[in-house]
Amino acid sequence: MRNSYNLGDPGFLSDPAPMLSRMRAEASLVKVKLPIIGSIWVTTTHAATSQVAKGKDTFFLTGLGAGLKKKGNAGLPWWSPPSFRAMAENMLGKDDPEHRRLRKLVDQAFVRRGIREMRPNIAKIAQARVASLGTGTVNIVPGFCRAFPLEVIADLLGVADEDREAFATMGNAMVDFNGGLFAIVKMVRSISKFWHFVGQMVRDMRINPQPGLVTDLIAVEAEGEQLTEDELVSMIFLLMFAGFETTTHLISGSIIALDQNPDQRTWLFSDFDNRIESATEELCRFVSSVAGTKPRIAANDIEVDGQLIKKGDKVMALPLAANYDPAVFDRPEMLRLDRFPNPHLSFSTGSHFCLGMQLARVELQEALRALYTNHLELRVSEPATYAKRPGFRGIKNLSVTLP
Ligand code: HEM
Repeated sequence: MRNSYNLGDPGFLSDPAPMLSRMRAEASLVKVKLPIIGSIWVTTTHAATSQVAKGKDTFFLTGLGAGLKKKGNAGLPWWSPPSFRAMAENMLGKDDPEHRRLRKLVDQAFVRRGIREMRPNIAKIAQARVASLGTGTVNIVPGFCRAFPLEVIADLLGVADEDREAFATMGNAMVDFNGGLFAIVKMVRSISKFWHFVGQMVRDMRINPQPGLVTDLIAVEAEGEQLTEDELVSMIFLLMFAGFETTTHLISGSIIALDQNPDQRTWLFSDFDNRIESATEELCRFVSSVAGTKPRIAANDIEVDGQLIKKGDKVMALPLAANYDPAVFDRPEMLRLDRFPNPHLSFSTGSHFCLGMQLARVELQEALRALYTNHLELRVSEPATYAKRPGFRGIKNLSVTLP
């Protein structure tokens, strides 16, 4: 075998630059093996990542879209459990014209919500979460990095107070996946439970609307647009799934990055309000919590940044690899919070670019403000442990000392 790049290796997840350099030295796309998905090309350069993410007329999420007589999704085999396939029925797994239609509807609802207006409430949630941590040595992942974005998403959707606890429990169970058959069975169960929960929530909100995105999406539907019950549940499921774990890992990864770079950290917190904008972009780049996008299928033979990809091949764009490409970023392995320009691809590009990127930025900013205003001397007390979740740079546990 020519290479054996393991994207789930803990050494790679904690320090991706060395292996990414080796991969890039080989070609702009290299083949790797991923659990369930199997053999797949992954991008190693900024140019290749951008070309794949923008290439919606060549790289399709579904076999049918790519002109193959194969049902299903590039990331999910036909034998995957029904709840997984139901989950993949959201717009992230769709090609045009369905994707365009669904994205337009949720874009409208998102714009109405207004992320800027959400900031004071997001800041309040972050402050309350930090206060609940107390002092001493804690694993900051469950009580803060997970709990905070989960609460923000619950607020955004308009989850009723009495459902909050069930929502949080199910959200946590869904992301508690760490490889292995038993874990898969457990996760499938959590996903179907959550699926039913969201379905019930939508039915309740039709009768008793709560302010939030669910009600807004129902309203969009009422204005004559076509959004089936299943599509609505799928959309909410996607918002929850895409908006929670991604942000969790961005926050925990940023805490580690700041701990490893004390000079940068001092620079940021000595003038937080003026420096947080550039710092946010650099932390998004450096952490790259979403390492890879959803797998696509090539509809025809194509050259991508010098590498030939054949019709029917599976391809995954790696924002993580783009963000560490020295052709675009000077000394990419270094955290430089004043880096400018910073054309990172953490939120991808092209038609599926991240819907929640402004929200994610605000969440990171308010998380750091709350955490370090109260604990400027916060220190990581033990090396983090990484979750085996393909496509994520996921942190499972992060022990910190809060003075
Ligand atoms: C650090 C935080 C986040 C990162 C790094 C991130 C990254 C990404 C990436 C790379 C994609 C493209 C995936 C692909 O093409 O396969 C994406 C899509 C998406 N993201 Fe995010 N995301 C973050 C937070 C959020 C939040 C907070 C929300 C919403 C509440 C959100 C909602 C979505 C949705 C709905 C899509 C699918 C867009 C589409 O298919 O058109 N994301 N995100």
